[in-house]
Amino acid sequence: MQKQVEYSDAIKTKYPEQIVIAIAKDRNGKANPVTLGWTMIASGSPPMMAIAVAKTHYSVEAVEFSRCFTLAFPSAEQAEAALFFGSHSGRDTDKFAEFECETAPAEEIDSLLLADAVANFECTLEQHMPAGDHMIYVGQVVASHINKEAKKRLYTTGPGHKLGSPS
Ligand SMILES: Cc1cc2nc3c(=O)[nH]c(=O)nc-3n(C[C@H](O)[C@H](O)[C@H](O)COP(=O)(O)O)c2cc1C
Repeated sequence: MQKQVEYSDAIKTKYPEQIVIAIAKDRNGKANPVTLGWTMIASGSPPMMAIAVAKTHYSVEAVEFSRCFTLAFPSAEQAEAALFFGSHSGRDTDKFAEFECETAPAEEIDSLLLADAVANFECTLEQHMPAGDHMIYVGQVVASHINKEAKKRLYTTGPGHKLGSPS
C-alpha cells in the first residue's frame, strides 16, 4: 500500500546513495574535483556514465571547457575529501591545493585520477542536456582503473551529507 506525500519527503527514502567525485580541468588548467551523488551508469556498450551538476557550480564551466572528466568512486576513508570537494567551489578555491589528496595523471584524457579511490573512469564528454536546475553530462568511458588494494566505497547514508559505508 502506498500513500501520497510531498516529493521532499519521499526522496528521503533514497539512502544509501552512492558518491562519486568528478574531476575536470578549467581553462587555466586547474583540476577541479566535485562531489556528486546524482550519477548513473548510462550505457554498457559503449560504457557511458552520467552526472548531474547544478548549473551554478563551477564544474559546469570546467566540464564544458575540457569536454572530458574523470569519475572516481571515493573510498570509505575519503569522506573528509568528499565533504571538502563538495562544500567549496573551484570558482574561488584550488581544491587540490587546499586539501591534500593524492592524484595521478589520467592516461587517455587531460584530467587527474584519485590515487586512493576504489576506481576511476576516464570519460570523454559525449552529450549534455539541461534538466531543471542541473546539467546532465554523459561521458564515454575511455579508460578504467581500480585500486590495487581492496577498498570499500563511500556513500551518503542519510540527510545532511552524512557519509559512511553501509555494510
Ligand atoms: C555528498 C555530496 C553530494 C553532492 N551531490 C551533488 C550532485 O549530485 N550534484 C551537484 O550539482 N552538487 C552536488 N553536491 C554539491 C557540490 O559538490 C558542491 O556544491 C561543490 O562545492 C560544487 O563545487 P564547484 O563549484 O567547484 O563545481 C554534493 C555535495 C556533497 C557533499
